[in-house]
Amino acid sequence: MTLQEEIERRRTFAIISHPDAGKTTLTEKLLLFGGAIHVAGAVKSNKIKKTATSDWMEIEKQRGISVATSVMGFEYEHFKINILDTPGHEDFAEDTFRTLTAVDSVIIVVDIAKGVEKQTRRLMEVCRMRNTPVMIFVNKTDRNGKNPFDLLDELEEELKIKVRPLTWPINQGEKFKGVYNIHKESLSLYRPSKQTVTESIEIDIDSKELDEHVGEDDAKQLREDLELINGVYDTFDKADYLSGELAPVFFGSALNNFGVKELLDCFIEIAPCPRAVLSEEREVRPEEPSFSGFVFKIHANMDPNHRSCIAFVKICSGKFERNTNYQHIRSGRQMKFSSPTAFMAQKKEVVDEAYAGDIVGLPDSGGTFKIGDTLTSGENLHFKGLPSFSPELFKYIDNADPMKAKQLEKGVRQLMDEGVAQLFVNQFNGRKIIGTVGQLQFEVIQYRLEHEYNALCRWEPVSLYKACWVESDDAVELENFKRRKMQYMAKDTSDRDVFLADSGYMLQMARQDFPKIRFHFSSEF
Ligand code: G4P
Repeated sequence: MTLQEEIERRRTFAIISHPDAGKTTLTEKLLLFGGAIHVAGAVKSNKIKKTATSDWMEIEKQRGISVATSVMGFEYEHFKINILDTPGHEDFAEDTFRTLTAVDSVIIVVDIAKGVEKQTRRLMEVCRMRNTPVMIFVNKTDRNGKNPFDLLDELEEELKIKVRPLTWPINQGEKFKGVYNIHKESLSLYRPSKQTVTESIEIDIDSKELDEHVGEDDAKQLREDLELINGVYDTFDKADYLSGELAPVFFGSALNNFGVKELLDCFIEIAPCPRAVLSEEREVRPEEPSFSGFVFKIHANMDPNHRSCIAFVKICSGKFERNTNYQHIRSGRQMKFSSPTAFMAQKKEVVDEAYAGDIVGLPDSGGTFKIGDTLTSGENLHFKGLPSFSPELFKYIDNADPMKAKQLEKGVRQLMDEGVAQLFVNQFNGRKIIGTVGQLQFEVIQYRLEHEYNALCRWEPVSLYKACWVESDDAVELENFKRRKMQYMAKDTSDRDVFLADSGYMLQMARQDFPKIRFHFSSEF
């Protein structure tokens, strides 16, 4: 196969959802279709349950599981599909944001009864920022939920994207009969089953056959619904989907493996193969022969006595080969990898080569990699698009063991490189502030510092509202601002200026007083 053919058959995507909507179940069903697993129940949930917040072993176990399920590759109808898993727990949302930079499209799972939930809304914002093509799977049609039309309105409104149903449920809950495939004009009749795959039948919507299969009332309703759909929604336009403006919507029940094949078949037909990626220097196209890629995730080893990491690299162009020298751009070092891993189903295996669109895991025992690092065949490139977002929670971190200052320093630095949380150094008092998305991250940091670095830390509360990256075209004004807000100015780990606003009011006042300063809630602007 040529490089071009290898790239065109790749589909790299993530499934995102609010916890419990059915992400894990859907992932598993997709793997079943690809023959990557043979029985349901084989995929372990990668969610850190809320009850686990103080159960360290549980967290460690879950971290282990998430390595195994970080990337799941499988073959389906000549396509090479890579599913990137994202942590379900909202305290790890930052990890999910970064994973979204490594995918070419996204499937959003929504619970038919709950509709759009908080986490989904936030993740969709990230997709919108990058114009990532999005498909929506409305799950749990075997349960009673919202009226599908109301739900479509809600999706449009809450996710701020146009929608177009491509399958349609026939009734729901106990009366759920199946889904009609608008796209293919066929009908799949519902038979609850966790293991088997339902066959669909081609059907003329106006024929008596429909009434025989689903009953007169539901047949009538379906005809009316379809008429309304065709009246209200434009015909599906693939170009709008690819530009991230339109989301096709599918209905089904992941648990019963229903409506999933329709989703997958449409997915391979329309989802994009690897796309061009922007670097600071230029646009990099996947079919370019030279290898390039970036680190979007770093996973530490669970065993504290053998502290090595796996850096997950998304290949942006060309072909990656084992035992070949590549340039680590940030350090300027040449590196080669004797045991890069790829991920098939839930197995990690050493690979000799991988192509643009694929993810390779590179073992790193020396803390060489940092989130956002670029690797290339030699060209000096820096990939963009791995922003940090303003954390939600902030705490001062202090050394609790004076004999272990160095260990603490090193531990904090490496954990930040791994992207566990964000570090800001207050320029006024020199104190270190850790910013996270959720409380659980503080607990993980403290635990890991102690067990992996032999360092003790202590948290001290600091009441902050947001971290804003500041810039201005007017250098004098920026200096003025920094002087006036001295107590609230900090530097991030890349030495950028960050304003730590302690309330929404304070931020509003700063905006008013300094109209020439731009305040950003993410580090890339
Ligand atoms: P998540 O990864 O998005 O957090 O969700 P997950 O797949 O773990 O699903 C959450 C719960 O919803 C699970 O039940 C799962 O069995 C159930 N579920 C998923 N899809 C469907 C569906 O189509 N219909 C129905 N009725 N339920 C569905 P649980 O009780 O939390 O876990 P488990 O004990 O079943 O594993």
